[in-house]
Amino acid sequence: YNRQRLLVVANRLPVSAVRRGEDSWSLEISAGGLVSALLGVKEFEARWIGWAGVNVPDEVGQKALSKALAEKRCIPVFLDEEIVHQYYNGYCNNILWPLFHYLGLPQEDRLATTRSFQSQFAAYKKANQMFADVVNEHYEEGDVVWCHDYHLMFLPKCLKEYNSKMKVGWFLHTPFPSSEIHRTLPSRSELLRSVLAADLVGFHTYDYARHFVSACTRILGLEGTPEGVEDQGRLTRVAAFPIGIDSERFIRALEVPDVIQHMKELKERFAGRKVMLGVDRLDMIKGIPQKILAFEKFLEENASWRDKVVLLQIAVPTRTDVPEFSFTHGNITKHLLKKLTSQVHEIVGRINGRFGTLTAVPIHHLDRSLDFYALCALYAVTDVALVTSLRDGMNLVSYEFVACQEAKKGVLILSEFAGAAQSLGAGAILVNPWNITEVAASIGQALNMTAEEREKRHRHNFHHVKTHTAQEWAETFVSELNDTVIEAQLRI
Ligand code: UDP
Ligand code: G6P
Repeated sequence: YNRQRLLVVANRLPVSAVRRGEDSWSLEISAGGLVSALLGVKEFEARWIGWAGVNVPDEVGQKALSKALAEKRCIPVFLDEEIVHQYYNGYCNNILWPLFHYLGLPQEDRLATTRSFQSQFAAYKKANQMFADVVNEHYEEGDVVWCHDYHLMFLPKCLKEYNSKMKVGWFLHTPFPSSEIHRTLPSRSELLRSVLAADLVGFHTYDYARHFVSACTRILGLEGTPEGVEDQGRLTRVAAFPIGIDSERFIRALEVPDVIQHMKELKERFAGRKVMLGVDRLDMIKGIPQKILAFEKFLEENASWRDKVVLLQIAVPTRTDVPEFSFTHGNITKHLLKKLTSQVHEIVGRINGRFGTLTAVPIHHLDRSLDFYALCALYAVTDVALVTSLRDGMNLVSYEFVACQEAKKGVLILSEFAGAAQSLGAGAILVNPWNITEVAASIGQALNMTAEEREKRHRHNFHHVKTHTAQEWAETFVSELNDTVIEAQLRI
């Protein structure tokens, strides 16, 4: 039978391009939860439409890149530097990202964004229109168009203007904040209305969906129903679709000889010590300084553990692109990330100075990404994983850790502000990352936990991670979208 065609539209393509010559490109897997989850989506005849992460001003380069991407079923949207700066660095990552994660900016940065708001919002709409043009060019009747994340809130409206029959879904990978927060956005109404143009709108958790519906009722004065939001008889279906991972991919990786070898090396390297692990993009929302301060407090209070535990923190660089351009235009994200990096380095240095010995330090902090196999080996040898996000849409690192722990049955310490707390809450130790005393105590509890209790908690989480996969998530969303469209036709 014919598989349904799915056009997946996201700002970030699953592969990012690096230019090797006038007409030659190499492709690398992009980092982040959105890409990881979507890589787990099979069963569909899928095409990916998005930005390849580079500026390609010349036609020769564009042609060659389109060709290279086509082999991966990817279709590029070419955004020039000015647009990337205003839309991606500006509106998406200086305005929407912090707002959706309840993060305040420093006062001077807040004023700077207020001043450039209008031009950035204009660029945001323009960029969304460019995505819509590419979708429209590749659309065939019957296709499902699935738009992703805060970069593309304007896209559903653009698409429906092209073709009101297009089946359009939109899914948000971040939290949707309380309507009291969304209210502060100057473009609050326009954004909500364009998302509502979609047939189906999805979120990771019920809370985010509820926040969205109440933003629509309070700000737009529309009617919220258990099904979604109604506007003059037209329903936009709103629901929660918690994402998952391709758990089998992780489980299988642990049988690859290279991974087994790498695990063996890690075990030897850290013999006699418990391994604690953090894996995060180096982002303000991840609570990395809070995590490290809690670890310091734990070492302070538990002298006997000082030479028996090590914290490995992988901080993947993120959103530091378009360098020359950022300097001339002043890129707030970049400047905040620089500050965060030096802050983290300073704390790590202090703790290693305080508690290190000539042969060992308590924290290994890496500002780099890892390849998939290295990551799996690390997950598998870890005793305690530490996720301290201040806010996080879902947090797939916690899922990936659980998937790799069938042998070890380690403990997950998880922020109650990550979407994953809703699904892994019963197996994890939940913490408020702002409460360093509580996190430090949880580290002690995790390190001292009996094998029986670890087993019990792991069972719970492992079952969840294995049964709620990325594949199932996508199938549920797409079939709900198909049903919604059929029901809407019956209403008329
Ligand atoms: N990840 C990666 N490269 C690395 C380390 C991690 O691509 O060096 C992946 C990790 O496997 C996970 C994703 O990045 O799938 C992070 O997703 P998460 O939902 O935890 O957070 P996000 O980065 O989306 O905020
Ligand atoms: C989060 C967002 C994704 C994004 C990822 C990496 O997971 O929800 O949309 O792709 O971070 O960030 P980047 O800006 O590099 O795409």
